[in-house]
Amino acid sequence: MTADVIDGKAFAAGIRARVAEGVAAFKASQGFTPGLAVVLVGEDPASQVYVRNKHRQTLEAGMESFEHRLPADTPQADILALVEKLNADPAVNGILVQLPLPDHVDADLVINSVSADKDVDGFHISNVGRLGAGLKAMVPCTPLGSLMLLRDRHGSLSGMNAVVLGRSNIVGKPMAQLLLKDSCTVTIAHSRTKDIEAVCRGADILVAAVGRPEMVRGSWIRPGATVIDVGINRIETPEGKTRLVGDVHFAEAMEVAGAVTPVPGGVGPMTIACLLANTLTSAHRSVG
Ligand code: GUN
Repeated sequence: MTADVIDGKAFAAGIRARVAEGVAAFKASQGFTPGLAVVLVGEDPASQVYVRNKHRQTLEAGMESFEHRLPADTPQADILALVEKLNADPAVNGILVQLPLPDHVDADLVINSVSADKDVDGFHISNVGRLGAGLKAMVPCTPLGSLMLLRDRHGSLSGMNAVVLGRSNIVGKPMAQLLLKDSCTVTIAHSRTKDIEAVCRGADILVAAVGRPEMVRGSWIRPGATVIDVGINRIETPEGKTRLVGDVHFAEAMEVAGAVTPVPGGVGPMTIACLLANTLTSAHRSVG
């Protein structure tokens, strides 16, 4: 059996096209352009790539993009002052502080200094709480994009067994909340989980978000399951080149699963598409 490959790249392009239409309509009716501000502190290479892509795709969607690049040794107080300025700026509808932040910065403090109304990442404690309570919330972009791919494949997820591998605040926990809201039976598995392979084998839906290259092998996957691979890991090949791989062994998964997201071209493009969608939503909310 060969699994279907879920084309996140094409799906994300569709979302971006709809966002661009929404932005054009917003400009026509409100007379201003929605804006997204991104704050990048330091030189983390992966973050630089993400921020560059965000900038380009924000402009392509017809929105304003405000980039703030600060040196790695920027004092925390300066970062907080910048966030305050962006909170007060009516041209800025969404604020994203790129993670990870340097060690001398209290990331929780910075994340929670972003106005909850402009928190397009959905990381602010009030959005986290609202999501957990089943209230309207800004939802973190990677789990939201993953959910869209799952709904597109299955329609209703009700009653399905979902296993989320990883318990991060950015992906694992909000992913579990979203799947629960869609009436899945949800298990969060992590580094201390006993017999993690058997737990994963019970999954109709397996979401891997652990940041460990190719950890999920074919034998971990229930035949016919849908596998969402959130991992983006750069590994060195025997020839000394680098290659992007997910948290799932793609070739083995293709032999067992019903559907698999590739890396790259699966969840990755969905994250930025959802960020743009969240920014447009935030712009709509700002005008009532
Ligand atoms: N770093 C890795 N993923 C993300 C994300 O979704 N948002 C932010 N702000 N930083 C990240």
